Amino acid sequence: MRSPRCILGAPIHLEEDMSKTPTVSLRDGSRMPALGLGTWKSTPGEVYEAVRVALEVGYRHIDCAAIYQNEAEVGRALGEAFAAGVVKREELWITSKLWNDAHRPEHVGPALEQTLRDLGLEYLDLYLVHWPIAFQHGVVFPSKPEEYATLAEVPLERTWEAMLGQRAKGRAKNVGVSNMGPPRIALCEGVGEGPSGDQVECHPHLQQRELAAVCRDKGIVLTAYSPLGSPDRTTKKADEPSLLEHPTIREIAERHDKSTAQILLAWSIARGFVVIPKSVNRARISQNLEAPNITLSEADLAAIAEMDRGYRYVDGSFFCRAGSPYQVDEIWR
Ligand code: A2P
Repeated sequence: MRSPRCILGAPIHLEEDMSKTPTVSLRDGSRMPALGLGTWKSTPGEVYEAVRVALEVGYRHIDCAAIYQNEAEVGRALGEAFAAGVVKREELWITSKLWNDAHRPEHVGPALEQTLRDLGLEYLDLYLVHWPIAFQHGVVFPSKPEEYATLAEVPLERTWEAMLGQRAKGRAKNVGVSNMGPPRIALCEGVGEGPSGDQVECHPHLQQRELAAVCRDKGIVLTAYSPLGSPDRTTKKADEPSLLEHPTIREIAERHDKSTAQILLAWSIARGFVVIPKSVNRARISQNLEAPNITLSEADLAAIAEMDRGYRYVDGSFFCRAGSPYQVDEIWR
């Protein structure tokens, strides 16, 4: 094992074998691969091939969620890869997430069971509460105000207790949260062991410095979603800034003879974060996996540090339409 790289976040373990992805340690000692395949926005029809390709080229971490509505197809790809001897279950890291309609304690176990059935697995490596937002049970996405539930009605603490209960049953080796800041992490800690991981949007335009410091102090692994700025979102705004074409990132990419995507991913890993770029393209899936081998210089990191502007591509406004009890600035606490 090469010695851990000097970084700002969690200790990262580099492998002697450069074809293996470095890992980040969770509190219980388990090792999460620092780069995984994102599956948000990968449609059924695309995601099977993407997961098969990813496993073949060496990915050992797949990031999933019930709301991506493609877990059964991810499961088919996993099952076939196991049967073909491409990878063993114990060599893989699989994360999934509890959807907003299953926050009530009695719904957490059944939601996790459904995800396990869809993925064809007996356990997850990490199960996250997807959002600090609750819906009535069975609502995929509210179209009427009464389809929401408030966090006063369905307190996050009760959801978190149920998550810990699922971990005790062995259905998830680790439990964590997503889209939650320090106050909500503290809420969870108030009822027992706190989250092992927090998955949030993170990239050079939203560097999450305060949250990263809290996570580092508490031993929580931070996973960066939308690391490339999620240009394939249906909610993309016409005037949003492009990370993949940003002049600072372009200049660094040219100097390293790498793509801008690879530089963005290397930046996340250099900070001690786990990163989960989505791709359904064979060449880009392979290219992204090489990012952990790029070493950015202090000057590169300093130039990227200047790009922070608190910009969210996924701003949560889709949960806050007329009649919703949620407001955008309250989500990001
Ligand atoms: P595709 O799936 O066709 O490869 P994010 O991970 O931030 O959500 O970004 C995902 C988007 O970035 C998708 O549109 C994906 O397209 C694209 N993408 C993924 N990897 C790369 C890459 N190496 N270079 C350019 N675009 C990429």
